[in-house]
Amino acid sequence: MMSMVTREQVLKTLEGVQDPELGGNVVELGMITDVVVSGSAVEIGLALTIAECPLRSQIEGDTNRRVGSIPGVDSVNIRTTAMTKRQRAGLMSVARQRARDNAEQTLVAATTRVVAIASGKGGVGKSSTAVNLAAGLVEAGYQVGLLDADIWGFSIPRMLGVTGRLEAHPETKLIQPLEAHGVKAVSTGLIVEDEETALMWRGLMLSKAVEQFLKQVEWGNLDYLLIDMPPGTGDVQMALTRMLPQAEMVVVTTPQGAAQRVAIRVADMARRSHMPVVGVVENMSGDVFGKGGGQELADELNVPLLGSIPLDPAVVAAGDSGNPVVLAVEPGPAAIALTALVARLIEVVPPAELETCTGRIAKLLADLEDGAA
Ligand SMILES: Nc1ncnc2c1ncn2[C@@H]1O[C@H](COP(=O)(O)OP(=O)(O)OP(=O)(O)O)[C@@H](O)[C@H]1O
Ligand SMILES: [Mg+2]
Repeated sequence: MMSMVTREQVLKTLEGVQDPELGGNVVELGMITDVVVSGSAVEIGLALTIAECPLRSQIEGDTNRRVGSIPGVDSVNIRTTAMTKRQRAGLMSVARQRARDNAEQTLVAATTRVVAIASGKGGVGKSSTAVNLAAGLVEAGYQVGLLDADIWGFSIPRMLGVTGRLEAHPETKLIQPLEAHGVKAVSTGLIVEDEETALMWRGLMLSKAVEQFLKQVEWGNLDYLLIDMPPGTGDVQMALTRMLPQAEMVVVTTPQGAAQRVAIRVADMARRSHMPVVGVVENMSGDVFGKGGGQELADELNVPLLGSIPLDPAVVAAGDSGNPVVLAVEPGPAAIALTALVARLIEVVPPAELETCTGRIAKLLADLEDGAA
């Protein structure tokens, strides 16, 4: 005789269904409102954060498959509903607690889109691209941070035209980013020059320095945090993904050949750091270096080519004067291409609240908290 299916058995199985966004299973997150077993038929009440949650089909599919594979279950019927305000608040407090317990604490908001600007080799224009994207995103109306992860070879202060010294808030002791063109920036080039502090920073491993920037800088509520990556691979990538699981990568490349080798290096870098590549930017394209390397690399990595920035002396001049070329009053070819790139990035990596249920809920919750305060 077939053994009886129990409610407990179903609940135990449901612990295997994850909400990938919230990083918890549907039982602990309180998304299972009801389990009714009648013989071999199981009926499950599933409450999603919002009815039009983009993850709906994935969670329903998982639930169906897992419960359906319990011996003795012939049919699974899922009734999906949208959570009430109160259920949502409960869920978010569980999710937040979990996030606190699991992730290393950084001061980067969970809703901040983190984009690392990386490349397979040095000198291709990572820093120029990062600075122009940051300034362009501010122009587009977003709150933007720029972290210079090139600890030894920093170029953000010069290119963004940010001056001054980073200082900690007297009470919170948190480092306050410096602002230029509306971009909140942090770089080792902005660290106080006194002997002791300089020595301390010089003594830090690269990954430790980045860690300090993530954990001790008061970033505030950013829409985007861009990270100017150092040339080469390794430590810094690892540290970033460990601390910012939401980080994604934009790869900058030049148009000339050898793309194959670069592609392998980039793919390897992405795989080892678990950082998804969202797209490729071809930089310095035009007569001198040719064209096409960007598209080649994009095809190789199976991601879109986000833009192609021509070789343009205005980029160098702008970088040297600390006025990102994307902000030029009379935009030349590079400025025009960079403006288009900004728009494309917003499409591919939209600000959190536009995209996901979690983002929307986080915002809702923030509003509620603001109201309560
Ligand atoms: N589209 C462009 N047209 C002309 N010059 C450019 C362009 N993009 C970048 N440059 C110049 O090329 C040089 C290298 O650029 P950048 O410093 O941004 O590269 P990087 O990849 O960050 O280098 P590194 O690997 O050393 O960090 C700079 O002098 C910059 O001004
Ligand atoms: Mg650089």
